[in-house]
Amino acid sequence: MDVTTLGAVVTKSIMLKPRSGRATPRMAETPSGMLNSIGLQGPGIEHFLEHDLPWLRRRRARAMVSIAGGSIEEYAQLAHRLRGVDGISAIEVNISCPNVEDRGQVFACNRSASAAVVHAVRRATAPGLPVLAKLSPDVTDLVDIAEGCVGAGADGLSMINTLLGLVIDTERMRPVLGGVTGGLSGPAIRPVAVRCIWQVHQAMPDVPILGMGGVRTGVDVLEMVLAGASAVSIGTVLFNDPGAPTRIAGELRQALAARGITRLADLVGYAHRAPAIGPADREELP
Ligand SMILES: Cc1cc2nc3c(=O)[nH]c(=O)nc-3n(C[C@H](O)[C@H](O)[C@H](O)COP(=O)(O)O)c2cc1C
Repeated sequence: MDVTTLGAVVTKSIMLKPRSGRATPRMAETPSGMLNSIGLQGPGIEHFLEHDLPWLRRRRARAMVSIAGGSIEEYAQLAHRLRGVDGISAIEVNISCPNVEDRGQVFACNRSASAAVVHAVRRATAPGLPVLAKLSPDVTDLVDIAEGCVGAGADGLSMINTLLGLVIDTERMRPVLGGVTGGLSGPAIRPVAVRCIWQVHQAMPDVPILGMGGVRTGVDVLEMVLAGASAVSIGTVLFNDPGAPTRIAGELRQALAARGITRLADLVGYAHRAPAIGPADREELP
């Protein structure tokens, strides 16, 4: 497809060094979704800057570069390396990574660890370039983590990353994935994503949210926007429909036209403001 028709292309999370990822098998199909344990396989930042980013630039894609690290220092180094590089529209900080300096505790599960990463990236990034923190739904108080990230300088929040899951092969009587646990994605997690977006938008209505998690159709996009997302991205649906971005954008246009809406921006968080069901509506219910 013509990638210039897309709002942006979010890259696979890039790390400092090349990484082969976790043991195979790395994918399992689940009801209405899938479980993956890719483990951030990737070529490392130098290869990315030499090959992948120029490839996106040649196609005039707006690139949102996702970065991931095992320590605050690694995130800071990645941000430094990206500073001044042409063809980057935003940086997304994937904080769903284990902190090697804190017993492998995932950054995204702790407010001060999340804030420290965002702060380090924000400080190393040119002031005009947006920095988004990508949040994990696997926490008790997502609003607390979101506030920590925004307080540390995040210009926006991406949500949600995958939920931690596990599938057991009952014939072989052992976990399906080589890495045992994996991240659950696809339509199964969409209500969780909509809830997270709703809660964070309610607490911080002025903070832009990039919503994701199980989006499959234009109406799914509309649902996330109504909850409070100002942009929506897709992942898992691309596995069975690589043309999904174009299809979903067309479906969204139709859904807006059918509702007489001319500006999608007017609907951001609209479900929070929509009038409650009144007596007249109730009478029509069976
Ligand atoms: C195969 C696969 C690889 C992923 N890799 C990354 C990654 O490198 N960085 C990241 O922040 N999220 C990663 N994710 C999570 C997605 O970006 C997204 O947050 C999540 O899958 C929910 O959206 P979806 O249901 O549309 O896929 C990955 C998801 C899948 C399925």
